[in-house]
Amino acid sequence: MSNHVRIFDTTLRDGEQSPGAAMTAAEKLEIAQALDTLGVDVIEAGFPASSNGDFESVRAIAGFVEHAVVAGLSRAAPKDIARCGEAVKGARRPRIHTFISTSDIHMKHKLQMQPHQVLEMVAQSVAAARNLVDDVEWSAEDATRTDKDFLKRCVEAAIRAGAGTINIPDTVGYSFPEEYGALFRELIESVPGADQVVFSAHCHNDLGLAVANSLAAVAGGARQVECTINGLGERAGNAALEEIVMALRVRKDALPYETRIDAHRLTRLSQLVSRVTGFPVQYNKAIVGKNAFSHESGIHQDGMLKNAQTYEIMRPEDVGQGHTNLVMGKLSGRHAFKTKLRDLGYELADNALADAFVRFKELADKKRQVFDEDLIALMDASLAHAADAIQVRRLRVVAGTDGPQTAEIDLTIDGQEVWAPARGNGPVDAIFNAIKQAYAHEAALLLYQVNAVTEGTDAQAEVSVRLKQGDCVATGRAADPDTLVASAKAYVAALNRLIALSQRGPDAQAMGVG
Ligand code: KIV
Ligand code: ZN
Repeated sequence: MSNHVRIFDTTLRDGEQSPGAAMTAAEKLEIAQALDTLGVDVIEAGFPASSNGDFESVRAIAGFVEHAVVAGLSRAAPKDIARCGEAVKGARRPRIHTFISTSDIHMKHKLQMQPHQVLEMVAQSVAAARNLVDDVEWSAEDATRTDKDFLKRCVEAAIRAGAGTINIPDTVGYSFPEEYGALFRELIESVPGADQVVFSAHCHNDLGLAVANSLAAVAGGARQVECTINGLGERAGNAALEEIVMALRVRKDALPYETRIDAHRLTRLSQLVSRVTGFPVQYNKAIVGKNAFSHESGIHQDGMLKNAQTYEIMRPEDVGQGHTNLVMGKLSGRHAFKTKLRDLGYELADNALADAFVRFKELADKKRQVFDEDLIALMDASLAHAADAIQVRRLRVVAGTDGPQTAEIDLTIDGQEVWAPARGNGPVDAIFNAIKQAYAHEAALLLYQVNAVTEGTDAQAEVSVRLKQGDCVATGRAADPDTLVASAKAYVAALNRLIALSQRGPDAQAMGVG
């Protein structure tokens, strides 16, 4: 059995099913390109039958990715499989990933089908997919709650019909590592033809065990792991790619397997996914969190100074985490700025660099000390919002103990200047009401959250806003030294995303995929 573990990234499909994490086609393309450069083996680009938008974005990614296999997800229905085949056919290495539920509870309540009908669908769907592409993956949705004998019969049917990869998802995050590893061992030992295919793990994090379960599956014989950047995904998310990759690297003694991931790129990719989805990375997130390599206590700091290995099992630079330096200020020149941006992973053309430099100077005027995190927030915000239909031009707010709190906002909406005043129950409410006056919409506010980008009272505030309109949920994020300005920009960013996403039909989540 090979010692290569394939990394199957599903940030763009299962990750996107996280409410509020929907991405535009251009954003998906940007992430797909970064995943390809990272070295993932398979990119699950979307669920083509779920909407025209998803179909088009899978097609665009298929035509663009250079190295990785590009997979599309498909239910077992012939129409869905045909649509999926159409979407991935332009890829250098196309894959159809078809699935059907196999547990009693799913067959009875979700599919309303008898087991023998499901078994027939397994063979038919895999055969139909094999008529379109050579590389077919089959998944038993809710495999870990499936009767084991029935699961074995389904796996055997899928192998006979031509599937090259068999995925055994822990769809509801129910399994324990020992059980999950043992399930792989048993399937691989007992199902005829199992030695001809690659077994794959796909774990959800409902009990916080997704990474542990994925590693147990590898120990049990799985040679593909399905995961997402930052562990993004609906409910508690999927197994985090960066954690699996680094666990395999750091503990080679326990699990002697290789991936092809260029780990130095992990932090930038984490930040890219966070910027695009608007989902902040928690400070103590393993591998890519801001505090993942910080040592506060005196005893730890002392040990670190004597020998970093006293408290560090990997080096921050191994995963692309730089040390936070006091980097720039008002007097920093264009050349230093360009070099610093390059160190942080931003390669800009001359015009974009000139624009970024102006924004940096504006920030340095407001904020004496400009840290790496400030520059990242500045760059990510400008890259994310440059093409937005609605832009915040100016904001005036009256706040304080003696109400009423009021706001006046100037927006540019499709190139037209619009001004609107409003009152509110506090300054943030007044700002959001003013935006509603300027641009009428019905979206409901699901989340308003403020974090400081760095320390100190002059730190930039990073605000996340999540809005819901109809079935569409979108998150916007913005940073500014003025918390109220950041709030206005984050709200408008979420609104822009709602507009961009409203063209898409029902998403995969609405179609009941695990
Ligand atoms: O969690 C799950 O079961 C899935 C399948 C559709 C692969 O995402
Ligand atoms: Zn899943």
